[in-house]
Amino acid sequence: MQGVVYVNGTITSADAAVVPVFDHGFLYGEGIYETLRTYGRVPFLFSEHMARLRRSAELIALPVPFTDAELRAEIDRTCAACEVADTDDLYIRMLLTRGVGDLTYNLGATPVPSLIIIVKPLKPFPERNYTEGIRVALVDVRRNHTSALNPTIKSNNLLNNALAMQEAYRRGADEALMLNQAGQVTECSQSNVFIVKDGALATPPLSAGLLPGITRQFVLDLAWKIGVPASERQLSAKDVAESDEVFITGTTREITPVTRIDDAPVGRDTPGPVTLQLMAAFRAKT
Ligand code: PDD
Repeated sequence: MQGVVYVNGTITSADAAVVPVFDHGFLYGEGIYETLRTYGRVPFLFSEHMARLRRSAELIALPVPFTDAELRAEIDRTCAACEVADTDDLYIRMLLTRGVGDLTYNLGATPVPSLIIIVKPLKPFPERNYTEGIRVALVDVRRNHTSALNPTIKSNNLLNNALAMQEAYRRGADEALMLNQAGQVTECSQSNVFIVKDGALATPPLSAGLLPGITRQFVLDLAWKIGVPASERQLSAKDVAESDEVFITGTTREITPVTRIDDAPVGRDTPGPVTLQLMAAFRAKT
């Protein structure tokens, strides 16, 4: 394994990093996380990620006993310990778990959360993902219901996402597109989804049950700035299938065109003009 890991103040190589078995992050999946990346070694949209970390923590009643400046200092310290080529950017995953305690859901058992920061060289996706687009599978696994396990929480409990992605892998796809219980489009297993129809951009609203992606919001703002109308609205699988262009967004995937939904081509089966325009505007910002 590449990279270094910070666990509650101590930085080690990735292979040597351990968390205790009685950490409730391990026992119950009780924890939250953020994935950031650097451009030119500077964490991109740091404040936005910290704001979402705090929202996720609040939704599971997890204290965040650090200021943003303290978290940034620990990220910087961990990044500095990661030996990489000068040209490499870094992948940063920050996790905050319930911490170590006895086998009970009683919060009193876990007074001290565990902070973990994984830093490793960012492995870029193949260039053809951006030039030719990727294939997405519309999977049978439904996104968690908002009143069961709210997808707004960026939780370490990723079983829903993992099961969706397993189905996508079996079907030879690069991402899993998920519907909610009502059959509306939500998001992908590790990214948000956008469609382009008649020159306008649309992405499902948060009420459909999805993660408020930092890149999603950045792209919505960017679209308006460059004169592409964009809205959040409910989308059906048919809307996606009949759209002119589809793309996904995420911290590591950036804007990636989707040119196949299972075996069906999207639009002209090649990254479309609006997607390419947004990708260029995005690259200019990063
Ligand atoms: N995933 N939706 C889901 C379910 C995600 O897991 C992610 C991010 C996104 C995109 O969010 P953002 O633009 O803030 O990265 C949407 C990260 C990259 C991960 O799981 O590591």
